[in-house]
Amino acid sequence: MIVNTNKLLIKARKGKYALPHFNVSNLETMQAVVNVCNKLKSPAIIATSESAIKYAGIENIVSLFQNLTKSSKQKFALHLDHGNDMNVIKQCILKGYTSVMIDASHFDFNKNVQLTKTVVNLAKKNNVSVEAEIGTLGGQEDYVKGKIKYTNPNQALDFTKQTQCDNLAIAIGTSHGAYKFKGKSELNFEILEEIKDLVPIPLVLHGASEVSTELVNKANKYGAKIANAHGVSRLNIRSAIKKGITKVNTDTDLRIAFDYGVRKFLQLNPTNFDYRKIISAGREEIESVVEDKIRLFGCRNK
Ligand code: G3H
Ligand code: 13P
Ligand code: ZN
Repeated sequence: MIVNTNKLLIKARKGKYALPHFNVSNLETMQAVVNVCNKLKSPAIIATSESAIKYAGIENIVSLFQNLTKSSKQKFALHLDHGNDMNVIKQCILKGYTSVMIDASHFDFNKNVQLTKTVVNLAKKNNVSVEAEIGTLGGQEDYVKGKIKYTNPNQALDFTKQTQCDNLAIAIGTSHGAYKFKGKSELNFEILEEIKDLVPIPLVLHGASEVSTELVNKANKYGAKIANAHGVSRLNIRSAIKKGITKVNTDTDLRIAFDYGVRKFLQLNPTNFDYRKIISAGREEIESVVEDKIRLFGCRNK
């Protein structure tokens, strides 16, 4: 069944578990999430970036989402990740997304407030919830240069009061992609705890992929070249959830898993050129990651 994103998140905040947010871009990635949620009896947030929408088409994404989830007993939400283009945000609000993110965190505080308020006004009228972001996540380069700007707890409170956004993405040391840390992951749990105590709405962790050495080695064994990749440890994810994170975003782990599955299949089956078999091998590996996350985040039977 399809539900409002914030309903799921408020319940998760109370229940001290996290909702999985999985980035998808096509039929097979969406199927992977829905299949596993049905098997494990878990809710999930299915997310598309603006580039995923450009790739697949918004009408196709919404139809796929509705067809795959409406007859399921599990709860699903459809979310726009890192919304930046007001036109895309509007389209998502009007065409069936249950939440949108407005990511104006790269602007100054006042501009971030102003853009977020605009989106909140439109979204509320359509029963769509809004995720906003304050603080700056880093890329690999940013981390090396120490550019990660942790979220300021007081500013986070002020921001949520002014914008009335429904949930808030915060920066506590993670970054997007496969190269988050030079080695061991380190998150700023003090800031997280301060924000959790001050800000009364669900908090979101972006850039949360584990990038496990085991998965990377498997992909590399079949021809990938992923070197020096490090993500957020499972222990850190568990602590982040315990200390107040309610939504955990994963994209990179799904991509590496798909890459591994397809590479392995092609190498082991050089005479098979049925693309359904090839893509299914990728989908199966995504399913393993989705299952692992659902167990790790504690959201079964919720
Ligand atoms: O957080 C962003 C996601 O990883 C989306 O990436 O724009 O390549 O779809 P994408
Ligand atoms: P990862 O790159 O760590 O998977 O993060 C994805 C994300 O934050 C999507 O919004
Ligand atoms: Zn993100």
